[in-house]
Amino acid sequence: MKMKLLFFFVLAQTIQFQLVAQTSIVGAGKKVDPYSYEITKNAIYNRAAVSSAHPLASKIGAAIMEQGGNAFDAAIATQLALAVVYPGAGNIGGGGFLIGHQPNGSLIGIDFREAAPNLANRDMYLDQNGNADMTRSQSGHLASGIPGTIAGLFATMAYAKLPFSQLIQPAIDLAEKGFVITEKQASSFNGTRNEFLKNSSQPTAFVKESKWKVGDTLIQKALAATLKRIQTNGAKGFYEGETAQLIVAEMQRGNGIISLEDLKKYSAKTREPISFNYRGYQILSFAPPSSGGIIINQLFKMIEKYPVASYGFQTVKSVQLMIEAQRRAFADRAAHMGDPDFWKVPVKTLTSDAYLAKRMQDYNPEKASVSENINAGVIHESNETTHISIIDAEGNMASITTTLNGGYGSKVVVGGAGFLLNNEMDDFSVKPGTPNMFGAIGGEANAIAPGKRMLSSMTPTLVLKNKKPYVVIGTPGGTTIPTAVFEALVNIIDFNMNASDAINKPKFHHQWLPDEVLVEKDFDATVVKKLQAMGYNIKEVGGIGRTEIIRLLSNGKRETAADKRGDDSVAGF
Ligand code: GLY
Repeated sequence: MKMKLLFFFVLAQTIQFQLVAQTSIVGAGKKVDPYSYEITKNAIYNRAAVSSAHPLASKIGAAIMEQGGNAFDAAIATQLALAVVYPGAGNIGGGGFLIGHQPNGSLIGIDFREAAPNLANRDMYLDQNGNADMTRSQSGHLASGIPGTIAGLFATMAYAKLPFSQLIQPAIDLAEKGFVITEKQASSFNGTRNEFLKNSSQPTAFVKESKWKVGDTLIQKALAATLKRIQTNGAKGFYEGETAQLIVAEMQRGNGIISLEDLKKYSAKTREPISFNYRGYQILSFAPPSSGGIIINQLFKMIEKYPVASYGFQTVKSVQLMIEAQRRAFADRAAHMGDPDFWKVPVKTLTSDAYLAKRMQDYNPEKASVSENINAGVIHESNETTHISIIDAEGNMASITTTLNGGYGSKVVVGGAGFLLNNEMDDFSVKPGTPNMFGAIGGEANAIAPGKRMLSSMTPTLVLKNKKPYVVIGTPGGTTIPTAVFEALVNIIDFNMNASDAINKPKFHHQWLPDEVLVEKDFDATVVKKLQAMGYNIKEVGGIGRTEIIRLLSNGKRETAADKRGDDSVAGF
């Protein structure tokens, strides 16, 4: 399905278009036109494919592979492009995780999660009465962890083929010369205007006098200058020198605590991926400090002994089983998971068959279990993480999820540097038992400490079939991330769906606390009624996740799909 976006230009913008149109963004013959582009929701490609949150970013990733780059080159170029064209979540001021698989069977796990600054402490968001002040963990300067994205991209360079300067150039061009924005982006900027004004200490490219509208051109000169410093000086162009000084000056204007030393000391880490089998498929996902890999390992293993396919797709029986597995996995998340460099996460036990069989002993297919009755929080819908799925012609797979946490992160744009900082400190357990912005409860395992990485739910995932590449998948959505990945893969493995159906069918989510099941609006109303009769508290929500997927067909073609829920788009050849 293709949707053509029509853009209308005022005179000034038309002139700008004519000036810029002579410069192809991604090299001779591989033009990506930032002034007229379409959203492609699904396609089957012969050799290489990208699915991401924005058409321009996907096209740039595909063009980089056409120029001789591999999936890791494309991951770097696509992420940098997203930092420009999708500022709500694409980022250089946030962090994330990349899982990769090479044709020789090697696995890659790069952790570039943000870390708490050296001056952070476990009680930093408590007020004089000991109550959690979530406004400070969720917006403004104090909400930011030390950004990890640029360190992560340079760690990824070890597996790439093209020079970094080539991979960052499209992002520089998009920032410097501009691109036209979609209707969704215009409305998102308009809706966030007041928060940008409140939290950013200097004028930003995201706020203009009149309202944004579809077809307006967004130019980000300060961001282009930052990207050029990174192009010239490598990771030091971000973590040291002028960019670092601009970040620290911004911190000082807003009582933030990230220091030059924090930035200089930050590094990406390698992590061994979580690996398990489900009905003959090998599933690979991210280890702590993300909870995502362990959660989906637990979910699949808890349902494996049940004949899910014979229960039928989204029947009461299959949905109820999956809800109860989700409830139990999220209870474990709250108690046992945190940064493994600070907290011993009992990965082996949490994922062992014996332990998971025990967890399901009290599962009753006739009625709802009851989550512990503690301070439950409300889940705010937020999809402001973003995912990229890529496969190249050689069979390298890259699955990369990155985030600013909430939409536009802390809403603080670094003055003079043009990029948004994350509000990832809220992913720590700010106070035991107090829900974060996703309603997730945590305890000691995820308490704040200097240098510690906050627990994530990001679940970049790969699936192998007969040891060969089969699926690349991931999604944004806070705590709904692991459940969305789980449900899409159950749709493929148990219900034999194609890639597009697997990610676009209605989703549901339970996370132990609050004790409620979120369902999307198009979820079957008769199933909802029957679940309510069994004791489930059901809450309808607008949308869960924005999943990007590539599946290898038996003829070697790449079946590629982008989520229906946003501007997400695929590209390839
Ligand atoms: N900030 C969302 C997550 O990491 O889970």
